[in-house]
Amino acid sequence: MINNNINVQSVSRTQLAELTYISRKTFLDAFAHMNNPDDLTAFLTNHLTNESLSIEMADPNSEFYFAMEDSGPIAYLKVNTGDAQTELKHNDGLEIERIYVLKNHQGKKLGHRLIAEAIKMARQKDKTYVWLGVWERNADAIRFYQHNGFAIFDKHEFKIGNDNQTDLMMKLKLD
Ligand SMILES: CC(C)(COP(=O)(O)OP(=O)(O)OC[C@H]1O[C@@H](n2cnc3c(N)ncnc32)[C@H](O)[C@@H]1OP(=O)(O)O)[C@@H](O)C(=O)NCCC(=O)NCCS
Repeated sequence: MINNNINVQSVSRTQLAELTYISRKTFLDAFAHMNNPDDLTAFLTNHLTNESLSIEMADPNSEFYFAMEDSGPIAYLKVNTGDAQTELKHNDGLEIERIYVLKNHQGKKLGHRLIAEAIKMARQKDKTYVWLGVWERNADAIRFYQHNGFAIFDKHEFKIGNDNQTDLMMKLKLD
């Protein structure tokens, strides 16, 4: 069921613990079954921690958003512009670095809603395209992005522990 009462709001520094919790939970739920546990443990030692997320939040070119229910955040979005983008770093691009929905809330158009927010932000900032990287084995997410208008334009490497993975880079051009 689509819930139209979801409120999308900027994440404040006082919500760091909630951001860390949902970041780690959604990452593990999505990828634990498809990765070596040692590689994931190595990755999560210095990624998606209170410390790393606090540094990311302090970057003026990165923004975090929660999709909120009364019970708390059920999805989140991280977007980057300028130098905060993980690649390309073109001034006319906006990167969706992370978009994650809690497992029991997936398939209810929250992802679609967060993509729409990212596109709105890109337009407000006079960007001409939105881009992202997605693991080549994450078929559901690739399909989801394609349904939302993104097309593959390149590949890059992404390291999880000792595992070198390939991310597909996808782009949505704005009119
Ligand atoms: C990928 C993701 C962000 C999409 O968000 P979502 O809220 O589930 O997506 P939506 O409901 O807007 O759309 C999902 C599509 O899959 C379909 N779907 C049906 N059941 C689904 C389910 N249980 N889970 C996911 N998608 C489902 C929907 O019908 C929809 O199809 P459409 O685009 O043709 O309408 C979310 O599923 C997620 O967090 N996945 C795990 C983490 C992940 O892979 N993140 C991306 C990393 S790059």
